[in-house]
Amino acid sequence: MIPVILCGGTGSRLWPLSRETYPKQFLPLTGEETMLQATARRLEGVAQLQAPILVCNEEHRFAAAEQLREIGHGAQSILLEPCARNTAPAIALAALAALESGEDPLLLILPADHAVADVAAFQEALKPARALAEQGHLVTFGIVPTRAETGYGYIRRGEGLSAGAWAVAEFVEKPDAETAESYLADGGYSWNSGMFLFRASRYLEELGQHREDILGACRTAYEQAARDLDFTRVDREAFAACADESVDYAVMEPTESAAVVPMDAGWSDVGSWLGLWELAERDGDDNLLQGDVLQEDSSGCLVRAESRLVSLLGVEDLVVVDTDDALLIADKQRVQEVKKLVGSLKRSG
Ligand code: GDD
Ligand code: MG
Repeated sequence: MIPVILCGGTGSRLWPLSRETYPKQFLPLTGEETMLQATARRLEGVAQLQAPILVCNEEHRFAAAEQLREIGHGAQSILLEPCARNTAPAIALAALAALESGEDPLLLILPADHAVADVAAFQEALKPARALAEQGHLVTFGIVPTRAETGYGYIRRGEGLSAGAWAVAEFVEKPDAETAESYLADGGYSWNSGMFLFRASRYLEELGQHREDILGACRTAYEQAARDLDFTRVDREAFAACADESVDYAVMEPTESAAVVPMDAGWSDVGSWLGLWELAERDGDDNLLQGDVLQEDSSGCLVRAESRLVSLLGVEDLVVVDTDDALLIADKQRVQEVKKLVGSLKRSG
């Protein structure tokens, strides 16, 4: 089994800390280690596991390699994308690389932006998943939903397959709020964790069946890749011509071979400042204060002071993130919109 760590996202909802030059997966957000390091460490102790394949943007090659080295890990290959084309192409590149060995290994797809509180439970869920993937299933890991989140994929359980696993009756990526509410009320749905386990060849077969264009573009980009000792740079022109699509839409929604294994491991996607606040241990006033922060009569706030003193007086539910060159002050309930803010920042140059 080869872990494939996807670390090519921009993490723009965590601006101004997460930047294009240093996105969230390379930052220590939930502890001492960066999200990438935590992702790699979470695998320590899993049996029959090869070194990971990393797929990231060309710009982040040194951060990716160095951060693994720091924790005494190494990658078997680091695939570099000249531009972001989302996860369906990124996984296709990893599958093509994995098949070069002449074998058809299982690929454990791991986003680099998750927090998992119970590592033992995470590793335990891999066992039934492995058996199913060996039979040709595309295995997802289902999380019990706790709110009508519209940023996740939803999985409806179908017939039972083996002890503790189900066929996927339906996979719906990022439903609208009303649909998400109905799934939550129904009780038969799980969240898609965004981790997957399947054979390299099975992924490429399904991708070819449902998105032949993506498979074609990735094959060309990979065949024409430039290689050196540490990195494989996929061809710029061929990869730029590939459609931008996530694995969820391209493969997981249309496939008929998906299975779901439940995972109860204290999982969360560290997607926004609110997500981070919810995840962290907070003080008696429900504040999460990081860095040099002084507060009085303030509650429910997240404050991150990178280099100077930040003080709050008599405010509630604010997010304040102060970095060297940018300051964010936001309503905690509106932090999903930070992505839009960053979009308009880019447009205005
Ligand atoms: N290499 C590479 N290239 N990695 C990428 C790219 C890319 O172009 N785009 C995203 N990634 C990485 C991100 O860094 C992240 O680690 C992972 O792929 C998932 O991408 P997100 O953009 O964070 O996806 P999402 O959170 O909106 O949705 C996915 O995860 C949810 C759970 O967190 C989906 O799988 C949902 O169904 C799922 O519920
Ligand atoms: Mg995510």
